[in-house]
Amino acid sequence: MSIFTICYFTLLFIPEVFSRRIKQIECFSPIAQATHFESANKAKNARLYAICDIAADLRERMASTYNPDITYADYDEMLADPNLDAVVIATSDSFHVPASIAALNAGKHVLVEKPVGISVEETEELQRIVNDSNLLLQVGHMKRFDAGLQSAKDFITQDMGEMLALKAWYCDSTHRYLVTDAVQPLMIKSENAKRPPGDPKADLERYYMLTHGSHLVDTARYLAGDIIEVRARLNKQFGAYSWFVDVTFANGANGHLDLTVAVRMDWHEGLQIYGENGSIVAKTYNPWLYKSSDVDIFHEDTGTTSRVLGADGHFYRRQLEGFAEAIQNGTPVSGADISDGVASVRCMVAIIQSVKTGKPTRLSDVTGAVK
Ligand SMILES: NC(=O)c1ccc[n+]([C@@H]2O[C@H](COP(=O)([O-])OP(=O)(O)OC[C@H]3O[C@@H](n4cnc5c(N)ncnc54)[C@H](O)[C@@H]3O)[C@@H](O)[C@H]2O)c1
Repeated sequence: MSIFTICYFTLLFIPEVFSRRIKQIECFSPIAQATHFESANKAKNARLYAICDIAADLRERMASTYNPDITYADYDEMLADPNLDAVVIATSDSFHVPASIAALNAGKHVLVEKPVGISVEETEELQRIVNDSNLLLQVGHMKRFDAGLQSAKDFITQDMGEMLALKAWYCDSTHRYLVTDAVQPLMIKSENAKRPPGDPKADLERYYMLTHGSHLVDTARYLAGDIIEVRARLNKQFGAYSWFVDVTFANGANGHLDLTVAVRMDWHEGLQIYGENGSIVAKTYNPWLYKSSDVDIFHEDTGTTSRVLGADGHFYRRQLEGFAEAIQNGTPVSGADISDGVASVRCMVAIIQSVKTGKPTRLSDVTGAVK
């Protein structure tokens, strides 16, 4: 199958070294450059067929590095290409839903970066279109392809029995750019890149929730299932944002989520789950290290702990392969589907609304955008 990728690039006005000094997280992570092109070239069951970007300098530079069959400046022209089977949409959040709808209308399967959208309404419209099509849409919650977290999921599904509680934390680090600069390819920037109007980082509360909160919420949902209600508090100090969220899961488990950006320490992400027949303790690494989570599973019956190695920690390539496999086999996506994407957006909206009102907020009651 052929994969087309919209590459995306961020124009960063603040020098990164300055942003580090003031300990603000400036997310500069053009993810197509960082991983999707490489993933498409390495995937065992997909091929990078085309690269599309309106910015000619980026398009040509990326094409010379990743060698697609063809490049496009115009998205609709590319969608009209009959050789294409699927697209990877790696653009700014607010472009996800319209780009996904255009691709589905053109008969292409879609792997769209997370979050799937920015409002309940637009993501539910996309859900209707996906459901009315015979095409697949997977949301790029790549942590579902972390072999360590997958071992936790298997234990929960097969042996753990009832879930008593889940605690999960996602704490970005003030030192993240020293790490990502060291391990990612050199990121190329362009003034010609198509960006939504305004500065997405003007409202950091919204930006952190969409960028980081979407990962935390999806990991919690992946392992514990649907979230019914949240009650959230936000503490803002010294430029850092810390959300503590009490969660009611549909399975009856107690839930607690900690989203903190940025902690004055190394990347700090993980979870604990207490179950009827065992427990899980997981440490997750900065994803750009491509290292599967360390997941210790305690089995009550044998009194032993097991941990999968997960030597292949390329979650992004594995998510692309999972997507391609679902298309080839005619099966549902094994990663996050559109209903997971919508639920994640509802949860983020509910967290923000709960912070504002100081009251528990049911996900089924929320409307509007993450803001
Ligand atoms: N899964 C992860 O770990 C992870 C990590 C980082 C970022 N992300 C997600 O990836 C996405 C990247 O967003 P960004 O702000 O960095 O992207 P961006 O805006 O910097 O890049 C988008 C590129 O696509 C091009 N483009 C956009 N619309 C186009 C169109 N209609 N036609 C042709 N070209 C078009 C732009 O010119 C630009 O080069 C975000 O949704 C973010 O949440 C995910």
